[in-house]
Amino acid sequence: MIVVCGGIKGGGGKTTLATNLAVMRALAGHDILLVDADEQDSASDFTVLRNQIFEPNGGAGYTAIKLRGQAVRSEVARMASKYDDVVIDAGGRDNTGHRAALLVANLYLVPLFPGSFDAWTLDSVAKLIDEASTFNDQLKSICFINRADAQGGDNEEAAQVARETEGLIFLEQPIGTRKAFRRSASEGKAVVEYRPKDTKAIDEITRLYRSVFDEKWILAQENR
Ligand SMILES: Nc1ncnc2c1ncn2[C@@H]1O[C@H](COP(=O)(O)OP(=O)(O)O)[C@@H](O)[C@H]1O
Ligand SMILES: [Mg+2]
Repeated sequence: MIVVCGGIKGGGGKTTLATNLAVMRALAGHDILLVDADEQDSASDFTVLRNQIFEPNGGAGYTAIKLRGQAVRSEVARMASKYDDVVIDAGGRDNTGHRAALLVANLYLVPLFPGSFDAWTLDSVAKLIDEASTFNDQLKSICFINRADAQGGDNEEAAQVARETEGLIFLEQPIGTRKAFRRSASEGKAVVEYRPKDTKAIDEITRLYRSVFDEKWILAQENR
């Protein structure tokens, strides 16, 4: 499966999502390619750190490359069959690389920050999906709230917009604001590897992981 983490917004959690999913899938025994298509290079920086930390145990556990622009499409199309799964961090801009990623993807994952400012960007996301879908009819798109607030109305504000956005499957279960995501990343680890264990963070990312890699589940959501 080729999974793209993206959106038209910084700080929503795209890199966190891409790196956690890549590590979790690799830990489950799959051969993973992590593609950094964002000029911020955060997924690559994470991997460099991870390779240092896990060097005695054979390194990061997945292969990582940087690709930009049209190469995101051509190189991923060429390399995908050599891996079980490809996870792409497409960054938060509507650029050639982001569009190229959507042309080869099976699944587009869009983390959304609570509140209306970020939700309003879903209009542009829907346009991107619509354009990509004319060339890529296998593309499915999933949106969920990341860094959800513990209380208040901002989660629901974003959720309402997401539910109404054409072409998006909205996951009702959010991922909360949990320090373990930031702390694990700064140690080159996925949240499932971080100690002390944050069981809520682990449960939330595991639920998302299952939704992402369960194609039957995705089809069922679409046909609801
Ligand atoms: N669920 C979460 N809880 C707490 N912090 C988070 C969560 N998701 C992401 N973060 C933190 O928020 C910041 C932005 O996340 P990042 O994945 O880099 O976003 P993006 O790649 O979309 O710009 C990072 O410092 C990251 O550690
Ligand atoms: Mg990022």
